[in-house]
Formats: sequence, C-alpha cells, structure tokens
Amino acid sequence: MRMARGLALAGALLALAPGCGDGADGGSLTVYSGREQEIVEPLFERFQEATGIEIEVRYGESAELAATIAEEGGNSPADVFFAQDAGTLGFLAAEGRLTRLPQALLDRVQRPYRDPGGRWVGTSGRARVVAYNTEELSEADLPDSILDFADPRWKGKIGLPPTNASFQAFVTAMRLTLGEGRTREWLDAIKRNEPKFYEKNLPVVEAIAAGEVEVGFVNHYYLYLL
Ligand SMILES: [Fe+2]
Repeated sequence: MRMARGLALAGALLALAPGCGDGADGGSLTVYSGREQEIVEPLFERFQEATGIEIEVRYGESAELAATIAEEGGNSPADVFFAQDAGTLGFLAAEGRLTRLPQALLDRVQRPYRDPGGRWVGTSGRARVVAYNTEELSEADLPDSILDFADPRWKGKIGLPPTNASFQAFVTAMRLTLGEGRTREWLDAIKRNEPKFYEKNLPVVEAIAAGEVEVGFVNHYYLYLL
C-alpha cells in the first residue's frame, strides 16, 4: 500500500485567549491542550527550562476545551489554547475569545498557515492523501483529482471515516474552495458509490491492507502506523 497526492493541509494550532490577566508577567501560563500529553509535554518542559515560566496544562478534546473557553468567557484561566484542528480555532475566533499574537511570532509562520487576523498560527501540518492497495492498482490508475472519485468506476472501492474530525475539516476545505453546491454534488456522488465507512483513519488503511477497499481518504501519517 502507498499513498498518493497531498490534498490539503490542516494543522495543530496555537492561539491566545484574551482577558486572562497576568500570564507571563506572573511567571506562569495556563495552557488548554487538545493535543496529546505524550506528544506535547516535552515541548512544555523545554519552554519552562528556557524561560523559567511555569506552565499549567489542562488536557482534553479540542472541541470540549474550546466549548469550555467559550463558556468561561472573560473568567477563563486559559492563556493559550493548543488545538488539534482548525475548526475549534475558527469557533473561538468567531466567539471573540482570541487576541492578536505578537508580530514577531506571526512572522515566523508562512501566511497560508496563519490567521489573517493574527489570532493563531499553525505549528505542524498534515496532508490529506489517497492511500491505495498497490496489489490492485498502480499510480496511473488513480485520478488526478479527488473529484474524480465521483466516477461510478469507484463503486464499492472507497473507504472513509465520515465522523472523523480530519475528514470533516477536509470537507470544510472543499466547501471553502469549491463552494457548497459542488461539494454537495461530490458528496452525493461519493455516496452513490457506496463507500465503506470506518470510525477513524487507521481502520481505513487497515481495510486497504486487508483488501476490503482499494482506496481510502486519510491523513498521510496513518500509513506509518500499520
Ligand atoms: Fe490523527
């Protein structure tokens, strides 16, 4: 099995919640982290060593933490929100809970990967890819555009995780790029192709390896978890 063609970039992102008083002045920062402890704790430790600023971290699901920040409003103890996906940042930006990051920090991130309003930056990226069974298909068999999986030739051969946040972010990117109408047409066509649904990305790549489906719409790194 291999993967082909990056389609979109999402990221793990960082933002500041306003109305949270002392922050660095008080020698401590409170971080709400939707990213897993195992992955980001070493970063927080290095930050503490380098700056002497204590970090308090609350870990949870990104959506749940974003809802908490919105609910806490001006009383939120959160200084920094470290989210796993862009949707939760859009939500908090719309709620007016984010403040502008310092320009020096914004300048370190390329424009496509930061908020035009300067309220968040991307800290890492993932590519959306089509993984495929190399015993059934060669790269030449794959269409050049994700849109072409609407073709009936792909009936019963596609695997995807409809409730997964990354899949939903991918559909959101499509809505923003192509518009609601074309995105709905594509989704309807994919549905007519009777895709097999899986809970998450990993079961999709496992299903490709097991020969259940020929292609899958996933994040690139799940191939390495097989
Ligand atoms: Fe993931």
